[in-house]
Amino acid sequence: MARIVLGVGGGIAAYKAVYLLRTLMAEGHFVTPILTESATKFVGQTTFSALASEPAKVSLFEDADPIPHTHLGRFADLICIAPATADIISKLANGVANDLLSATVMASRAQVVIAPAMHEEMWENFAVQKNVRVLLEAGYIIVPPSHGSLAAGDIGVGRMAEPDVVADFVRCTLASERVDLAGKKVVVSAGGTREAIDPVRFIGNRSSGKQGIAFAKVAACWGAEVVLVTANPSPEFPRVRQVVVTSAAEMSEAMHLERDRADLVVMAAAVSDFRVQTFSSTKIKREGRSRMTLELEANSDILASLAASELGCCLYVGFAAETDALEENLVKKLYSKGVDIIVGNDVTKPGAGFDTDTNSVTVLSKSGDRLTLEEVSKETVAVKVLALAYEMRERS
Ligand code: CTP
Repeated sequence: MARIVLGVGGGIAAYKAVYLLRTLMAEGHFVTPILTESATKFVGQTTFSALASEPAKVSLFEDADPIPHTHLGRFADLICIAPATADIISKLANGVANDLLSATVMASRAQVVIAPAMHEEMWENFAVQKNVRVLLEAGYIIVPPSHGSLAAGDIGVGRMAEPDVVADFVRCTLASERVDLAGKKVVVSAGGTREAIDPVRFIGNRSSGKQGIAFAKVAACWGAEVVLVTANPSPEFPRVRQVVVTSAAEMSEAMHLERDRADLVVMAAAVSDFRVQTFSSTKIKREGRSRMTLELEANSDILASLAASELGCCLYVGFAAETDALEENLVKKLYSKGVDIIVGNDVTKPGAGFDTDTNSVTVLSKSGDRLTLEEVSKETVAVKVLALAYEMRERS
């Protein structure tokens, strides 16, 4: 549980802050909303008060407390401002503290997460961009706005990130293991590849892609530019570029291409080890067959070939999906794949493996580190493994 101040600026996206508040409350945080005067023109103070841990506040002078900003600022573990207007961003970048929200931010040492929302022209304006750069340099976390519907029927960049996405940034920022990945490129593979038999059938596996997506999100929230090479497409996420593939061969090509300049590669995909030797361009018919044999040939080991090449000083994280002899297979794969870290899960365990939101894993590193995580969220697995990877880098 964290103590969060939720700042709400005056924009139409203020209605999304209500959903964000509900999510933060549902995650067990103690949330105090602070609305600017103009935010109250879009959504009423009562709405926030009814959902929050304590009544929403608007003014420096409305309570008996003569210095609410210092108390709120000190009490906060994190301040999240969503939506953040051009005006709020400008105040924070320039040290203006003339209302309760800006004064609270200034009176706080807490980490600040900002979700800007404004029209495209405003977002692209040089002054706004200059102020955003100032905030980034000061260590503020910016949740990039997305492209989509804006106020008054306009379409463009500047739409506030969805409440769930802002909540993801808040969670990842609160993680004590957080590493600053600004300027780093992280490439993650996810999902189960499919090998076509004919135009309607394929050989696949039960991977949902959830573990890889969790890695992509955490790395993006920590500031990395992420490429997600995935066989299971997922909703858009800021700073994550998706490359959608189908077969192991396509994944191999994309991974070799995207690995260029990567700082870290996480191979979370369940790659098909074999492909059909001869693809039938027409549907294979049942009639007249009591049995049939498919001839398969081996796919290349993508991870081993990436890790074996001399390019860059990249860290490699591999996965091992096992049904037995986990420990033995993990050690074997750590060395045979040439990776820095191997994450192993027994996919037969309840609450672990395919299509679950949780995972139970054993993590081994080539430097002898060992972690065991039992039925934790896939996001927690990502947080711990990314933190370990960068700790290893620090040590070397
Ligand atoms: N992997 C890969 N290319 C393949 C097969 C697997 O890059 N053709 C990667 C997976 O993404 C994972 C790791 O290698 O990070 C281990 O995958 P796993 O399926 O557990 O093992 P395999 O190497 O396929 O060996 P086996 O199926 O015999 O356990």
